[in-house]
Amino acid sequence: MPADQQISSDQADGLAAAALAARSNAYAPYSKFRVGAALLADDGRVYRGVNVENSSYGLTICAERVAIGAAIADGAAAFRAVAIASDGGHAPCGACRQVLFEFGGGLEVILIDAACGSPRDASGWRRATLAQMLPDGFRLGGG
Ligand code: THU
Repeated sequence: MPADQQISSDQADGLAAAALAARSNAYAPYSKFRVGAALLADDGRVYRGVNVENSSYGLTICAERVAIGAAIADGAAAFRAVAIASDGGHAPCGACRQVLFEFGGGLEVILIDAACGSPRDASGWRRATLAQMLPDGFRLGGG
C-alpha cells in the first residue's frame, strides 16, 4: 500500500458507517464510553472492534485492538485505514497506536464524533496517518 494515500470518499464513508454501527455493540458498562473501530484491509475486507470492559478494570480491551485481533485471526495483516467512532471523536490511546503501528505507519486514521447528527458530516472528521499520530513508533530492529 502506498503510504499516506487517502482512501476514497466512498471507502471512508463505508468505514465510518461500520465504526458507528460497531460502536452500538460496545461493552462499556463502567466508563459508559463506547468506542467502535473499523479496519480496512488491503483486500477490501473490513474488521470491526469495540471496547470490551471488565469488572477488573485493567483487563479492558480497546476497540482498536479488538479489530486488529479479529483481522489477524482471519488472516489479514495489511491495512489501509481505520475509522474510530466515539463521543468527541477521540484519538486512539498510545497503546493502540503502537499496536496499529506494527502493521505500518502509513495507515490512515479517521476519527469520527459519534455525537454528530445523522447523516454524519465528513467535514467534522479528523484524518491523519498513524505515523503522524505516533512519530518514531517502536519497531524491533529499527533505529
Ligand atoms: N478506549 C478504546 O476503546 N480505545 C482507545 O483508544 C482509548 C479508550 C476505551 C477503553 C475503555 O473501555 C473506555 O474507552 C474508556 O477509557
